[in-house]
Amino acid sequence: MRLVATKSIKEGSELAKPIYNDKGKALIQKNVNLTDGMIRRLQDMGITYVYIKDEVTEDILVPSPISDELRIEAIQTVKQSFATYQHNGFGKKVYLIDKTNESMAKVVDSMIHQLKDDQEVLTVMSHILISDDYVFSHSVNVTMYALALATELKLSAKQIRQLGLGAMLHDVGKMFISEEILNKTGKLNDQEFEMVKKHTEKGFDYLRQSTNFPLLVAHCAYQHHERLDGSGYPRGITHKDIHPFGKILAVADVFDAVTSNRVYRDAMLPHEGLELLYAGSGSLFDPELVRTFKNTIAVFPNGSTICLSDNRIAIVVKQNHQLYERPIVRVIKEQGESVTPYDLDLAKELDLTVVDYAL
Ligand SMILES: [Fe+2]
Repeated sequence: MRLVATKSIKEGSELAKPIYNDKGKALIQKNVNLTDGMIRRLQDMGITYVYIKDEVTEDILVPSPISDELRIEAIQTVKQSFATYQHNGFGKKVYLIDKTNESMAKVVDSMIHQLKDDQEVLTVMSHILISDDYVFSHSVNVTMYALALATELKLSAKQIRQLGLGAMLHDVGKMFISEEILNKTGKLNDQEFEMVKKHTEKGFDYLRQSTNFPLLVAHCAYQHHERLDGSGYPRGITHKDIHPFGKILAVADVFDAVTSNRVYRDAMLPHEGLELLYAGSGSLFDPELVRTFKNTIAVFPNGSTICLSDNRIAIVVKQNHQLYERPIVRVIKEQGESVTPYDLDLAKELDLTVVDYAL
């Protein structure tokens, strides 16, 4: 399969991965030949890329870091959990919060388990999922990035679990901010931005009431918008005062925010998302975490079309472990002309580099 931009997709192309809504219902099944109407609908829904099947890329697999079923279950659990906090928060019915925390812990354990089974690098954009409410799928994505980072950093099983819980609930405070502000597509005015900033403190206040989650989970909500140089919020604390989990979540949160499909702008590609993190490395984000993060995601995911430094166009076939900028690729064009496809291992062709995507 290969990744194609919805704006350049041809009518009749066969879909290789189903498109789900966040209730787990497939909006378009796989193997469907896309009609013009469907392609337009995909564009209207803000989907920038889809996976399609064709002969040249038949053997190319795009691994999913967690199963579709678990991903949908995780999104549902976040949704339910946020609703429980919203309705039963602040000392009213803490036992209900504790109960929803238990199901949250179960889902996080399953995610850790599946991520561990699959030693592969995380493929961004491996799921095409439409979420009515961005915050729920965002929470699940951030959790996957945070867990991958924590594993790479060799944190203990206990720490990884706590970080996973904190990641799932880092934005729970958004439940207390009006949807009008949260879903606003234009720039927020000062007053609105002040409201949005409050989700960190609200999340902290709510999460620290639970009797079965450690306080550290609440601190994940409190600190994920803090930045090394003190330019973050709510407290503007700096490097030495930000908990390592806050720093990990800052990286995971920003990366997902910029590489996700939003109706009002196109998703950045993984390498662009990484460049943005590098631009803030040292001032906003912990440089060691940015470097480690790069090793956990496929910069050029399987199935994506790329342009090589000698103008050859190729499709990514497979990742090279620890050399994610140099995957194995299948050349399809030389100097603008189609050629009989052949594979190249960029780990061995050191005079060649990937210069950009050609989607
Ligand atoms: Fe946030």
